[in-house]
Amino acid sequence: KLHTVIMSGGAGTRLWPLSRSHYPKQFHVLSGNDTMVQQTAARLDGLKELGSTLVVANEDHRFLVAEQLKHLDNLSIILEPCARNTAPAVALAAFELETLDPQSLMLVLSADHIIRDEDAFRNTVELSRLQAENGSIVTYGIVPDYPATGYGYIQKGEENAPQIFKVDEFVEKPNADRASEYLASGEFLWNSGMFLIRTDIYLEELNKFRPDIFQACKASITQAQRDPDFIRPHKASFEKCPKDSIDYAVMEKSALVCVTPLDAQWSDVGSWSELAKSSKSDLNGNNIIGDAILINTQDTYVKSEKRLIATAGLSNLVIIDTEDAILVADKNASQEIKQIVEQLKASN
Ligand code: GDD
Ligand code: MG
Repeated sequence: KLHTVIMSGGAGTRLWPLSRSHYPKQFHVLSGNDTMVQQTAARLDGLKELGSTLVVANEDHRFLVAEQLKHLDNLSIILEPCARNTAPAVALAAFELETLDPQSLMLVLSADHIIRDEDAFRNTVELSRLQAENGSIVTYGIVPDYPATGYGYIQKGEENAPQIFKVDEFVEKPNADRASEYLASGEFLWNSGMFLIRTDIYLEELNKFRPDIFQACKASITQAQRDPDFIRPHKASFEKCPKDSIDYAVMEKSALVCVTPLDAQWSDVGSWSELAKSSKSDLNGNNIIGDAILINTQDTYVKSEKRLIATAGLSNLVIIDTEDAILVADKNASQEIKQIVEQLKASN
């Protein structure tokens, strides 16, 4: 069986002021008609021998998750009492699955991606299934088109099986110089942030590289509280768990990682500039959501909830108007929005 794990506990701070801690981006509609997490679940339809869907989310978002995914059969929701990043989130799901269906496959997905070509996505997952069943950790690689610093970079090695490559190096979020080198070399793919792994293999590798995370998650899930709606890992044990992402904790270190290219019009909507790129723009390169008048304005993303936004003589900006906050930012500064949120938190 192929079980799916949707990691849905991120804060999505780079999409402030739309994305807020009580209502982060994965629960918003950013493209199409459904929210990001709903689209993530929907694109699984058509995969063979689908098992259960496990969503790992923050306790604060339990109503959002339960409401938005109530149409799914075979859904379990694991609620984290605090955010410890993705290595622990996936560990909780893996421990849970190991008791249900030992050595089964888990397809680990981010809840914040847009994938336009869903058939291509499913075909690529099917193509890599055997490799994962045999004990590899499959990553899905995207051909990079600019030196992004917000992604993991995967160096493609020898071809082990058709379209499945050994990974020579996995580098999570390199600095700008490194990213440019990697892009120029033509040998690297971006990590899409989705993985296909056997639950036992993930736990073994995690235990090898981060026994501290392994132990904390194990203690936390074995003492979990369960009711018909939610699984709540033991709070005190989980709070002791160190924070780390699956990319740093396992992918950079494991020798079992392989990569298969994914050509499915994937995009990460991690920042306003990414979202602008993956949305339809007009002849001037502008994206207008809501009420706006743009004069002599180019390559600008404008989103208004209520008020009219008017601009003149601008280019390459992001302007977001919400009920209680306005963001005006250079598109190139998209990664710095995080710092605004940090300052806000510090001053509150
Ligand atoms: N349950 C849970 N708990 N989920 C989390 C947590 C957590 O503490 N932190 C993040 N997530 C979820 C997010 O909601 C998102 O769906 C996913 O895990 C990935 O987290 P991000 O914080 O968005 O990671 P990233 O975008 O910086 O980097 C990852 O994705 C890139 C591609 O989008 C890495 O895997 C990169 O290597 C990759 O290139
Ligand atoms: Mg992301």
